[in-house]
Amino acid sequence: MVFYLEALGNVFGIVLISALIPQIQVGAWTYHYSDQKVYSWNASRRYCQTFYTDLVAIQNQNEIAYLNEFLPYYPHYYWIGIRKINNVWTWVGTNKTLTKEAENWAENEPNNKRNDQDCVEIYIKSPSSPGKWNDEPCLKRKRALCYQASCESFSCNHQGECIETIGNYTCSCYPGFYGPECEYAKKCKELDLFPGNAFMNCSHPLGNFSYKSKCNFYCMEGNRLNGASTLECLASGEWTAEIPKCLVNECPSLKSPERGNMNCSYSSKENINVSSCRFSCEEGFILKGEEVAWCTASGAWTAPVPQCEVVRCPDLEAPIRGAMNCEQSHGVFAYDSTCNFSCQPGYRVSGFETLRCLASGQWTSSIPTCQAITCDPLKSPVHGSLNCSSSLAEFQYNSRCSFQCAEGFVLKGAETTECDISGTWTAPAPVCHAIVCKPLLTPQDGKMTCVHPFGDSSYKSTCQFSCNKGFSLIGSDKLHCTISGHWTADPPTCRANKCPPLIAPPQGILQCSATQENLIYNSTCDFSCKRGLMLMGAQKLTCTASGSWTNPPPYCKAVKCPVLNNPKWGSQECSYNHGDSRVSSVCHFTCNKGFMLKGSENVQCLTSGKWTTPPPTCEVVKCPELAFPKPILMNCSHPWGFFSYESTCIFSCPEGQVLDNSPEIKCQAEGTWSKKMPTCQEEPLSVQKALAYFGGAVASVSGLVIGGSILALLRKRFRRQDDGKRPLSPQSVMGTPGVFTNMAFDSTS
Ligand SMILES: *[C@@H]1O[C@H](CO)[C@@H](O)[C@H](O)[C@H]1NC(C)=O
Ligand SMILES: *[C@@H]1O[C@H](CO)[C@@H](O)[C@H](O)[C@H]1NC(C)=O
Ligand SMILES: *[C@@H]1O[C@H](CO)[C@@H](O)[C@H](O)[C@H]1NC(C)=O
Ligand SMILES: *[C@@H]1O[C@H](CO)[C@@H](O)[C@H](O)[C@H]1NC(C)=O
Ligand SMILES: *[C@@H]1O[C@H](CO)[C@@H](O)[C@H](O)[C@H]1NC(C)=O
Ligand SMILES: *[C@@H]1O[C@H](CO)[C@@H](O)[C@H](O)[C@H]1NC(C)=O
Ligand SMILES: *[C@@H]1O[C@H](CO)[C@@H](O)[C@H](O)[C@H]1NC(C)=O
Ligand SMILES: *[C@@H]1O[C@H](CO)[C@@H](O)[C@H](O)[C@H]1NC(C)=O
Ligand SMILES: *[C@@H]1O[C@H](CO)[C@@H](O)[C@H](O)[C@H]1NC(C)=O
Ligand SMILES: *[C@@H]1O[C@H](CO)[C@@H](O)[C@H](O)[C@H]1NC(C)=O
Repeated sequence: MVFYLEALGNVFGIVLISALIPQIQVGAWTYHYSDQKVYSWNASRRYCQTFYTDLVAIQNQNEIAYLNEFLPYYPHYYWIGIRKINNVWTWVGTNKTLTKEAENWAENEPNNKRNDQDCVEIYIKSPSSPGKWNDEPCLKRKRALCYQASCESFSCNHQGECIETIGNYTCSCYPGFYGPECEYAKKCKELDLFPGNAFMNCSHPLGNFSYKSKCNFYCMEGNRLNGASTLECLASGEWTAEIPKCLVNECPSLKSPERGNMNCSYSSKENINVSSCRFSCEEGFILKGEEVAWCTASGAWTAPVPQCEVVRCPDLEAPIRGAMNCEQSHGVFAYDSTCNFSCQPGYRVSGFETLRCLASGQWTSSIPTCQAITCDPLKSPVHGSLNCSSSLAEFQYNSRCSFQCAEGFVLKGAETTECDISGTWTAPAPVCHAIVCKPLLTPQDGKMTCVHPFGDSSYKSTCQFSCNKGFSLIGSDKLHCTISGHWTADPPTCRANKCPPLIAPPQGILQCSATQENLIYNSTCDFSCKRGLMLMGAQKLTCTASGSWTNPPPYCKAVKCPVLNNPKWGSQECSYNHGDSRVSSVCHFTCNKGFMLKGSENVQCLTSGKWTTPPPTCEVVKCPELAFPKPILMNCSHPWGFFSYESTCIFSCPEGQVLDNSPEIKCQAEGTWSKKMPTCQEEPLSVQKALAYFGGAVASVSGLVIGGSILALLRKRFRRQDDGKRPLSPQSVMGTPGVFTNMAFDSTS
């Protein structure tokens, strides 16, 4: 409680009364002191609290001046309500620290002379320091200076501070209150709610929508409050916040899972409960959790966002003699990890060098292995040898091979080769080539046959030489290629075999196909003689292969035709030239009577010594051959030839017939018959006789002129006999040697 000396003039009268009648209690803010007794500070305070309110609390100079003027002087002075508590000067009534400004100490005070001067007195009407304060031991006895307050516990309705005035009080209202006794609370704007929106539950401790009114807001299910959920009416008459609104409940927005995707379908505001999100994972990742989340009315999702877990492939290990180097962006042996494999030197990766983990959880291929790098095995070269050394295994990486050739052979290619990292030889295997001799040419006009066991004109090649027919070999017929690369001898040559030269014979001419010095195999020399002379011996001489002539050389002799003999049955007459049958001699030929010249009548001797034609012959003149009608019989003789000059034929008839002319005809020198051929004339004849005549087995009759029926009968008989039998030869009929007899018979069938 604080004293304010606001209306000093008005208060004077009261203080006066109080001063005059110090023990009388008055109903207003007044000062009092104990004029009957003195007390220690504690007792003074108890005295004040018992009869008044408390020891005075002085806070300004006006109050001090007032007290110093109106209180009576007392040598031990008066206690006031200040005391040292925990070494701090404190107003005991209000338990407030004494401020620097409010201090009113006498000069050189407080001095705490004897160390326990913890209480304060006021020098009322002191001659040296009137109205000033001094610290004193609390047990000292002095007058108690008390005051009586106007404020009661119910003053200002507990809603303001009661401030003492002289003789009365005023209310200083706490924030939110007003009115003389602070009886009214400040009002806030009444809250109006639109129906169907937010609900509100308010408490109004100080009146409808007044200071300290509190409203809680809430929404229907499926809605959420947008704004403060609680509003409070402040001392200023303002609400703590704007009135909130209810909004439709929305589920919190979701984020795509890492390494995944989200596909949400949002439904309309009125039908929010069908919002859903579908989740999927990137390739190589597997969804862990629910694939679909639904937004519920409460604004919560039915399931949390799932996670995308990376697919893992089986663990890999480095192959034996190899190493593995992996790049694993999504985790150890996880999807898309790539592992590279390599092998120790001398080994190569067999399989894929790089494996990748697929989305299926499988590696792109199986782990490769390390396989020794080997080169193709080498073989000793033909006619050579091989010597290999190796640090690993034969023909494996780093193997080194050297080559050598046998005697007579030289190495063509690298002398050594090595198996390199790629499994290939640094150089191809060499070959052993036989030492080569200069190639030989086939000699002109000769032949060469070689045997090359190790290649053309090479070591141990052998060539055999021969010359064409008519030529002779000069030199060695067989050469060998030696180890020195030379032939055993110079190649041979072929020289033509020459025939000895010829000279023309006397009276003759010689013509050769070559000059006399070059008469070789097949050369020819033709000989001829002057006219009228005949070459004796070979006309042409040929040089043989061996160099000799086919014949001795010929000579010329006068031409003579051979002496001709007289033809048989003829004669010749020759006109000879020089007494013998030389060129141009002519012979004339004639034939005997009944003979005819066949060939040239005259022949002449030609220069060739031959007659123009062969000498003619004399041939007998021929008469037409006789064909005779049956049944005539004929018997002919042919002294010079068949039906020729002087052939004679005699005819006869069978019994019962007679010739109609002379029976004999003769071939004449002109080639005609002397007479016409006779025929047979019918003569009376009995049947029996005829049958008897023909009854013989050998008979053959044709051309018989017999009367009708009898002839028919004869024919029948004949046929019966003749059945299946051969015809008989004419000779067997007559049997005459050198004479031919034609016999015809009826062969009618
Ligand atoms: C005065 O009173 C206070 C508390 O009321 C007490 O602590 C103190 O001992 C008292 N002093 C004397 C001398 O009685
Ligand atoms: C007075 O104030 C002091 C500190 O300010 C405190 O410790 C003490 O309890 C108070 N005394 C009373 C009676 O209120
Ligand atoms: C005291 O003050 C109150 C309020 O200020 C007033 O109503 C009352 O009349 C006053 N009393 C006297 C005696 O002046
Ligand atoms: C309003 O609030 C009071 C006090 O907190 C409580 O008892 C009451 O049930 C509430 N009314 C409603 C409708 O929530
Ligand atoms: C508060 O409001 C209610 C209802 O509107 C009314 O009945 C009551 O009289 C009001 N109270 C005051 C103190 O105005
Ligand atoms: C999302 O889902 C809807 C309905 O299932 C479909 O039509 C649409 O293609 C999907 N979008 C994508 C990007 O997958
Ligand atoms: C969605 O909500 C409406 C209103 O809250 C309700 O009538 C309807 O049955 C719900 N539909 C589903 C599929 O939950
Ligand atoms: C695997 O090999 C490839 C090709 O040589 C190379 O690009 C890649 O960096 C290698 N990865 C690792 C992990 O060594
Ligand atoms: C093979 O070569 C090695 C090393 O060069 C040598 O010591 C060895 O004698 C050779 N062997 C033959 C059979 O040449
Ligand atoms: C010689 O003649 C024969 C046969 O006509 C022939 O084969 C050969 O080649 C010829 N010889 C010469 C050297 O003319």
